Formats: sequence, C-alpha cells, structure tokens
Amino acid sequence: MDAVVSEDLVKIYEGGVKALDSVSLSVKQGIVYSLLGRNGAGKTTFLRIMATQLLPTSGRGHVLGYDIVSEARKIRENIAVIPQESRPMYILTVREHVKYFLMMRGLPMYEASQRASRIIHELDLEEYSNTLCMKLSGGLRRKVLVAMAMATEAEILFLDEPTTGLDPLSRRLVWDVIQRASRSGQTIFLTTHYMDEAEKISNEIAIIHSGRLLASGSLEEFKKLTPYKLKAEIPADNIRIEELREYGRVLKLGRRIIVYMADEESSRKLHDYCISTETPVAFSPLSLEDLFIKMVEENENS
Ligand SMILES: Nc1ncnc2c1ncn2[C@@H]1O[C@H](COP(=O)(O)OP(=O)(O)OP(=O)(O)O)[C@@H](O)[C@H]1O
Ligand SMILES: [Mg+2]
Repeated sequence: MDAVVSEDLVKIYEGGVKALDSVSLSVKQGIVYSLLGRNGAGKTTFLRIMATQLLPTSGRGHVLGYDIVSEARKIRENIAVIPQESRPMYILTVREHVKYFLMMRGLPMYEASQRASRIIHELDLEEYSNTLCMKLSGGLRRKVLVAMAMATEAEILFLDEPTTGLDPLSRRLVWDVIQRASRSGQTIFLTTHYMDEAEKISNEIAIIHSGRLLASGSLEEFKKLTPYKLKAEIPADNIRIEELREYGRVLKLGRRIIVYMADEESSRKLHDYCISTETPVAFSPLSLEDLFIKMVEENENS
C-alpha cells in the first residue's frame, strides 16, 4: 500500500480559482517525496487536502489507506504537518513547544521530554532551548516548527516549505533529520522552492503547474524525460539568439541565454563559437533546476 495516493483530485476555491486540476499521484512508504512548482501552482492546496485540513471539490485521496474525507480522524492520528504560514506561540519556550506538543498528542511527559531534548540537539537549538519564541528570529521560529513536527515521529510528515527562511547550515541539519526519519520508515511529503534541496534529499519528485501534474518520478527518470545532458549560460547582451540555435535548444531567461545540448560535440562547437566571437560562456551538466525551468516554460508557452 502506498502512503499517499490521490486520484483525479480537483480543488476549485470559492470565487472559481481552479487550484488543482485532476491531480493523480502516489507516494510509496518510507520515501522523501518533493512537490515542486511555481508560486500559486497548487502545492499548498494539495498538501492541505491530503493532510485533511481542506476538502477537495472532487476526486479521491487516501493516506495510509484511509479516505481523506470519511476517515480524516484516523489520518490525523498518524501524521504531522508543518503549514506554510504559521509560527509558534510566543509565550512558550522552544523546549516547552516541542514537549507540550508531544504531550498533546498523547505521549507521556518523560518520553516527550526525552524526544524534545533529542530533536533540540539534532537541530542545534540547544542555546535557545529556554528562550521564549517571541524573542527568536524568523528562521529560528521556523526551525521550532520543524522540531515539533519531526519530534512526533509520525508515520507521515507533511512539510510545506520546511526550510524556507533557514540559513544554509540549518537547512542541512533539517535535511539530515528528514533523511534519518525516512531511513527509519517514515514517509515525508514536502514542498520546496529549493531545487538543490529536492535533488539532495528526495527519492521522488513531482512538478505541478497551474494545478496540473506535469511529471513525477525519481531524479534519474526526470533526467530521461529530456534528451539534453548539458547546458551553457551566456549573457544576453550583444548576442544573436538565432546563431545559437544550431547548437541546441535556446531559452532566454531575463538577461541570460541558456542553450541545452544533447551531446559533447554540440558543446565543443558552441565553445569554439564563443571563443571566436569573444562571448563569455559557462558550461555545466543539466540539473533539476534546468529540468524544472524547461518543463514549466514549455507548459507556459503551450
Ligand atoms: N483560500 C483561497 N481562496 C481562493 N483562492 C486560493 C486560496 N488559497 C489559494 N488560492 C489560489 O489557489 C492557487 C494555488 O495556491 P497554493 O497556495 O496552493 O499555491 P502554492 O503552489 O502553494 O504557491 P506558493 O509556492 O506561493 O506557496 C493560487 O492561484 C491561489 O491564489
Ligand atoms: Mg504554498
């Protein structure tokens, strides 16, 4: 049984915005699954529906085999959620937050206390352990929410942009905690705008655009969706785009031009062209970010 399954999920908000348009996906147990998409693509809507915080307009969804509408209570007992917009309560300390949250979920005080100490250590929050949340910076408040959700050790974790606003070192600590949770059998469904994050920690990735699922699968499967292996970035000034088309697929992004190439031969030719025209160029292998941009661009233009 897959941990999270949606079939033809549709959400039309009051006022007529179609935030989800027949989204079908499934998430295997014990993996890290990242949902990517531009602002307004429908990520939060999808996550909230599967986490039983919002009702779908039509379609079906199951979490751990339970129906998201008729068995929402059973689902809530087995999940933890970090909402996109939320902050801890100001009048509690970091430690109190984690501990009381676990006790509210039914854990005995001793175990809640032990788990709070562990996650506070893992997320490097020890120096703030007894600090009131009102005195914390925005990023540290976000980290407290991560600590609360991860400390539950819930079977499924729904994390809506868990690392937004976190510094690079803190992000890595959160990645470690997420990966450890996944290794111990928990399923993590997250959304993120950080492509490096998705690439680093996910077993599977999905891209949603204007409420429609464009693609899903492992990073390797994503890379097979495109014939391109390499890219070159060239400043858009003083360059004739038409001349670049013979080397690969050309995309203009603001003041940059990106050329996607299928083989080394094309990149060698482009390299020679850039030298002869004294054009600055940087070559690199295709990353998830490139695949994302290309996929979303193609869908915007279609
Ligand atoms: N409560 C609401 N009422 C009406 N429309 C809404 C509501 N919440 C979201 N929307 C709309 O639904 C669409 C999807 O929004 P959603 O928040 O799911 O996107 P998102 O992918 O999470 O974006 P972001 O990356 O900015 O968080 C957007 O067009 C948004 O304006
Ligand atoms: Mg969102």
